[in-house]
Amino acid sequence: MHADIDRKLFTEEAIVEGIDRVAKEVTACYQGKDFTVISVLKGSCIFASDLIRRIPIPLELGFCATSSYRSGTTSGQLEVNFLPEENEVVGRNLLLVDDILDTGKTMYALKQEFLKRGAAEVRSCVFLDKPSRRALEFEADFRVFEVEDLFVVGYGLDFAGRYRNLPYVGSLKPEIYRETIAGA
Ligand code: IMP
Ligand code: MG
Repeated sequence: MHADIDRKLFTEEAIVEGIDRVAKEVTACYQGKDFTVISVLKGSCIFASDLIRRIPIPLELGFCATSSYRSGTTSGQLEVNFLPEENEVVGRNLLLVDDILDTGKTMYALKQEFLKRGAAEVRSCVFLDKPSRRALEFEADFRVFEVEDLFVVGYGLDFAGRYRNLPYVGSLKPEIYRETIAGA
């Protein structure tokens, strides 16, 4: 285990099992219906690529990007800084895929943005859900795991841009983010 990790929360094996389960739910939901998976960069790139390879029905893939976290662990101002082309959104059934649903601000804002831009339908799928932190009413249509209120990294999730490449999910030692914030 990486020296900066306090506790391993989800192993590679548990992640594979969880994604298999959710991939089946997504497949059942979109059977016979065109849809586009929109991966929210950068955090969901690993989850989205594992998820779509377990969905055996036709789908398209798009990306969008927001930034709400600077280098700290609390939510800042949300900016949508990258969106798919208009023809990839208008009239389409979209499945937004993100790494974690925390306050809910990112997914809520993205859903409104895509509906405003003419999407026929917007659903959401998150790898992790931290319901204790929700700041507004938003629930994901699909989620792999619920997590307690800890700052977690790995499997796409970062702290100050690092740890995305860990193959498991773990909580970060508090002294790591305290040091980084103090030195920022
Ligand atoms: P929300 O808008 O507060 O729901 O935040 C969603 C975004 O915050 C996610 O896409 C993550 O980038 C980031 N985030 C929230 N909690 C964590 C965490 O525990 N570890 C890493 N990133 C997190
Ligand atoms: Mg993110």
